[in-house]
Parts: sequence; structure tokens; C-alpha cells
Amino acid sequence: MPKILITAALPYANGPLHLGHIRSTYLPADTFARYQRLRGRDAIYICASDEHGTPIVAAAEKAKTTPQEFVDAYHEKDKEEFERLGFSFDIFHRTSSEENKLMAQHFFNRLKQNGHIYTKEVEAPFCPNCKRFLPDRFVVGTCPHCGAQGIYSDYCENCGKALHIGELKEPKCITCKSTPSAKRSKHYFLRLSAFSERLADWLKVNKNLQPEVTNYVANWVKQGLIDWDISRDMNWGVPVPGEKGMVFYVWFDAPIGYVSSTVAWSKAKGARWEDYWKGDSTKIYHFIGKDIIYHHYLFWPAMLMGIDDGFRLPDFIPTRGYLNLEGRKFSKSKNWFVSLGDFLAEFPPDYLRYYETAITGYDVQDADFYWKDFQQKINNELVANVGNFIHRTLILLRKSCDGKIPELKNPDEKDAELLDSLVKARDSVAGKMEKIELRSALEEILALSAELNKYLSAKEPWKEKSREKVGNCLCISTRGVTTLAILLEPFLPFTSRRIFDMLEVDRGLLRWENIGVELLKPGTAIGEAKPLFAKVSDEKVAELEDKLKKQA
Ligand code: MSP
Ligand code: ZN
Repeated sequence: MPKILITAALPYANGPLHLGHIRSTYLPADTFARYQRLRGRDAIYICASDEHGTPIVAAAEKAKTTPQEFVDAYHEKDKEEFERLGFSFDIFHRTSSEENKLMAQHFFNRLKQNGHIYTKEVEAPFCPNCKRFLPDRFVVGTCPHCGAQGIYSDYCENCGKALHIGELKEPKCITCKSTPSAKRSKHYFLRLSAFSERLADWLKVNKNLQPEVTNYVANWVKQGLIDWDISRDMNWGVPVPGEKGMVFYVWFDAPIGYVSSTVAWSKAKGARWEDYWKGDSTKIYHFIGKDIIYHHYLFWPAMLMGIDDGFRLPDFIPTRGYLNLEGRKFSKSKNWFVSLGDFLAEFPPDYLRYYETAITGYDVQDADFYWKDFQQKINNELVANVGNFIHRTLILLRKSCDGKIPELKNPDEKDAELLDSLVKARDSVAGKMEKIELRSALEEILALSAELNKYLSAKEPWKEKSREKVGNCLCISTRGVTTLAILLEPFLPFTSRRIFDMLEVDRGLLRWENIGVELLKPGTAIGEAKPLFAKVSDEKVAELEDKLKKQA
């Protein structure tokens, strides 16, 4: 069995995480990682905070603090919120770490040795008033490709294209609004153009990549790739070896953060990081949102090709769409925003995990978070279907069987059918999970839960006179409960553990192979039955909708 390396795009340590970040990136990656571990595979889930770049320097300046203090605070905050959501990173490291500095410099040195890096004098924007160079987000202006305004000089949020030095139209200094002048400066470039053919081939040959994405990335390649400026005249970042006042562009050392964080993890574990990154007995999955396609489908593979150091190219780059909030883009500055902290102050983490999975396909389509829709999905699906079945089963067990697991004797046709359904669901859910079709896997689990509900209602154990029939029905239903708990673990890890605890089954038995298996011997007493979920009330929804409108 190959090893499995799962990464989630590294969050910028420059603002609170919101419901959108989770949707495209951290939640699908966590669900997938949990599934792989449940199957007993050697899977690691790697993440880190992305702590370099001009937005962080600008934000720190605004907050009248240093970039270091600024990122320290967000690193801790993000880490804590991710934990509260149950994200099971094997490590949540940092790009400002020593490991990342060394690994980024190693990449640079080798790429240079291999002839993929050269220097060139450029006319760099310089603010005469602030007396400094204005790389990337120190300048705003108009996109030369699509005409969008208020765009930063390294990347257009509107059309998704990477921008090159001097390309931005009508540039203005973000600090003092003056028009920058041009000042000559030596920059390092990666010969991206030289990788065009290899990239185009890889995009064609790797059938694991989503065609809806590779089609337009291939088009970018066809239009011609421009060499990539990888250095910046500033001090916050990984120093370029042998240079003063010069660091790498944040997007150079950020993906390297995937590797260096694995190095930090392996040191702590005594494992070999190369086993997850190099050779044929590993598979690499980079989970990202659709705005960073350029960086993961072009820059990063080109770096991996160019370093020629045994690195594998990404096997999968699961790319998902954006989340909007009640019909508008998330915006911190416009206060159109629900942070993870805000959400977790109101609801359990599994509610967010459920809802966002339910509205996210394996594609780049955007979706909206609507409080009303959230309420409906939680109440009609999670509470009315899953919660209801589990609660009914446990209550009936206490009422009709003294809270003890009954024996299975002479099952009838319906009973046998149900037992069969548990095993069938296991296999078909597994098929979907392997393909990262998380939403349809969840739908399949909900369908199984509906079938179990129907079975319980049809059997009417509360009316049934035969002890044997009552016993069979509740024995099978309980097995349905443990099966649902295992199937749901990747999606709702907190709920699964509560179910196992309620039944007093050892959490160590939360393993895929235990689906449909008798985990509770006849005669075993179960614990107290408490409802798993509470409904989301109309008042709460009205309150949250109102709060959002008032804060904006
Ligand atoms: N730091 C870079 C990634 C570097 S990876 C080597 C970055 N950070 S981010 O904080 O802006 O975004 C983190 C992840 O959240 C990215 O995958 C991004 O696509 C995703 N999303 C950010 N806002 C989002 C929505 N509103 N909706 C869905 N995903 C969103 O990009
Ligand atoms: Zn200025």
C-alpha cells in the first residue's frame, strides 16, 4: 500500500479564518485524511501558516506591530480554531521556520545549479515618498488583462492571472497613494517558459487532475508562460543566499512549506520525509481553492521538475470553488463575514462540517452559505434522519431490551437485506471516498440512514409481540448505529465519538473494517441515550441574519 501525503493550502497568517477557507480546502482535505486513516493507511495531513509576503507586512504596519509578532498571533489563533473544528493535521507548522528557510534555499541553489534561474535588472516600482520598493501588494491598480480595478500587482483576483513586474496599470502606493516611480533593481527569475512543454504534457498525462481545470491551465500555457520573478527587495521573508535586503517572493517559499513541514514532522516522529515525497510508493494530494490554481498547476510543478531531486509531481490537486455568504463575497473590510470563531460560538463544529460538505461537489463551482439553508439541511437531514434513527434505536433498546444488546436469531428476509445493505454501503461509500467524491459519499450515508429509519418503522418493534423479532430488529438497528458512526467519522468526527461513547464501545474500534460487524456482544449493556443533535431554531436564524446585516 502506498503512503499518502495530503496537504491543504497554507493559510495566510494575516486575518481571521472564515467559513470560506474551510469549504474549499481544510474540510475536504481533513475528511479525506480521516477516511484514509480509518482504512489503516499510512496517511499524513500536513499544513502550516503562510507567514511571508507583503500583505502581512502591510497588515503588521497598520496594526503598529512587527511582522513577527503579527504572524505569531495568527499562527496560534488559526491553529486553535482548526483544532476546534477537528482538523487532524499531523503538523501545523510555519513558513517562517528554520526548516522552511533551509528547504527554500536548497530549492533555489539546486534550481540555479541546474540552470533554471537567472538574474535581470528590472524597473521596479519605488515610492519616492515612502522611500522604499513597492513589491506585490504594496501597490494597487488596474489589471492589464481584464481591466479589474483595485488589483494588487502580483496577481489578479478577478481573472486569476499572475501579474509581472511593471504590468499593473495606474499603480498607486498603498500607504501614501502616490504614483510610484521606477528604480532599477536586480531580480532573480525562474525560467518558467522553458518548462512549457513538460507542463503541457503533464497536464495531459495526469488523468487524476480535473479536466475543467487543466483545460484552461493548458490554455495559459499555450498563450505563453513568462519567466517568474522570484525575488523581492524587502527584508521580511526567506533571504536569497548571497544577497542583502532581498528575500524570495512569498509564492516561492510557500509551497516549499509543504515539504519543510513534512521535514519538521518527520524529525519529531523519527520517520523519513522523503518516503512521502519521492519515489513510486507514495501518492501526493494538494487540496486547494480555485483562486490558487496558477500557483499549484504551473509554478509548483515547474519547481519540482527543475530541482530534479527525486521529487514526485502532484498526483492529485483537488480544487474546489469559492464560498460566498448570503449572495455576496466574504469581505473582512466590508464586514460581510462570519469567522470560524463566530460560528463556533453558536453551533457545534460538526454542523459546519456537515453543511459545507453537503453544498460542495468535487468541482470549481461556487456556492453560498445561507443561514436558512444551513438550518434546513441540519434540521431535515442531520437531525431528522441520522439523529432520529440513532435516538429511536437507543431509546427502544432501553425500553424493550433493558438497555442490553439482544441476540440475533433466525433473521427474516428483511433483516438479512438490511445487514446486506450495511456492507454494500461500506463498499460504495469507499469507492466514492477514494475518488474524493465527498459530497456523494455523504449522500450515500444519508440514504443508508433513511433506509434504516424505514426498516425500524416498518418493523414496529414497539408493537411486536415476538421477543425474537424485537431482538432481531434492535440488534440489527444497533449494528446500523455503529456502522453509521464509522461511515460518518471522516465527516462528523465529534458525533462519531459520542455515538461510540454512548454505546460504551471502545473508540479504538472506529475502523473501516468494523462496518457491519458485531461490535457489541449480545447481553452487553449500553450507556444512557442522549439526543445527538438539537434543531436550529427559527429565532436563531433570524438573529444571525440580522447580526450580519447590522454589522455590514
Ligand atoms: N497562502 C496562500 C496559499 C499558499 S499554499 C502554498 C493562500 N492563503 S489564503 O489564506 O488566502 O487561502 C487559504 C485557502 O482558502 C486557499 O485554498 C483558498 O483558495 C481558500 N479560500 C479563501 N477564501 C475562500 C472562499 N471564500 N471560499 C473558498 N475557499 C477560499 O491562498
Ligand atoms: Zn508611498
